Amino acid sequence: MDITFDQLRYTYASGVEALRGVSLAVPTGQRLAIVGQNGAGKTTLVRHLNGIFRPTSGTVRIGDWTTTDKQIAELSARVGYVFQNPDEQLFARTVRADVAFGPKNLGFDEQRASELVDAALARTALTREADAHPHHLSLSERKRVAIAAVLAMDTPIVVLDEPTTGQDERGVRMVASITNELAAEGRTVIAITHDMDFAAENFERVIVMAQGEVHADGEPGEVFSHTDALAKAAVEPPQLMRLARELGWRAHPLTVESFVAQLAKKPQ
Ligand SMILES: Nc1ncnc2c1ncn2[C@@H]1O[C@H](COP(=O)(O)OP(=O)(O)OP(=O)(O)O)[C@@H](O)[C@H]1O
Ligand SMILES: [Mg+2]
Repeated sequence: MDITFDQLRYTYASGVEALRGVSLAVPTGQRLAIVGQNGAGKTTLVRHLNGIFRPTSGTVRIGDWTTTDKQIAELSARVGYVFQNPDEQLFARTVRADVAFGPKNLGFDEQRASELVDAALARTALTREADAHPHHLSLSERKRVAIAAVLAMDTPIVVLDEPTTGQDERGVRMVASITNELAAEGRTVIAITHDMDFAAENFERVIVMAQGEVHADGEPGEVFSHTDALAKAAVEPPQLMRLARELGWRAHPLTVESFVAQLAKKPQ
């Protein structure tokens, strides 16, 4: 289920040109992180995947479908989108009802739906909150309900819009392992994030956006060494890379393990 954005442009009714010709191909099973300053167009870009937005010009393809030929309901069988703000996504009176809405809507039989809901609640550590009203939960819990609601839809493509916002260390680790498990199952995971450490450690590809355009695209090590593009997008490289640079290293370690391995190679 490859994704292709071809010369995508999007202008809001207010006249803001949020996307100014984005072309990207995202192959099946890729873990792609999208980074860039506030207002860069990241959310506008991914909202084209599930048909919330229709291109002003250009095309978006998902597998053999062109999004403009499909209804939002059809696209939701292929793309699960976790909203940046969970309060725009959640609407039911209980956590379970919110998580059950997607699989029910996709027409899964009752048993499959209830297995998917149970698994999604367990995966996001919300089993005990199943009967709670989402409004009584904290923002980080509501964000996890929003993630569970998408996991339960069992889609080949999962889009996470700032999934680590408001999460503590354990929550960030949970989102990271969900990302890696989804990719191991052959699903495509696209995450928008302002957390460069999270992007560097968990994604094989990073794109940097600024003012409606892609300014850098590649493996994290390569992209985060692209100082011009990062400056344009007001993005700081991950902490370990900054530390390595301050130490005058030529290597660009992205993970604690590779940093330690590099340290062991240096004369003390
Ligand atoms: N509903 C809207 N109406 C008009 N302009 C909008 C609307 N939503 C976003 N914009 C504008 O479109 C541009 C891109 O916004 P978008 O939300 O896609 O950015 P983003 O990269 O997701 O930012 P953030 O990191 O803050 O979430 C910005 O200039 C923003 O102000
Ligand atoms: Mg956004």
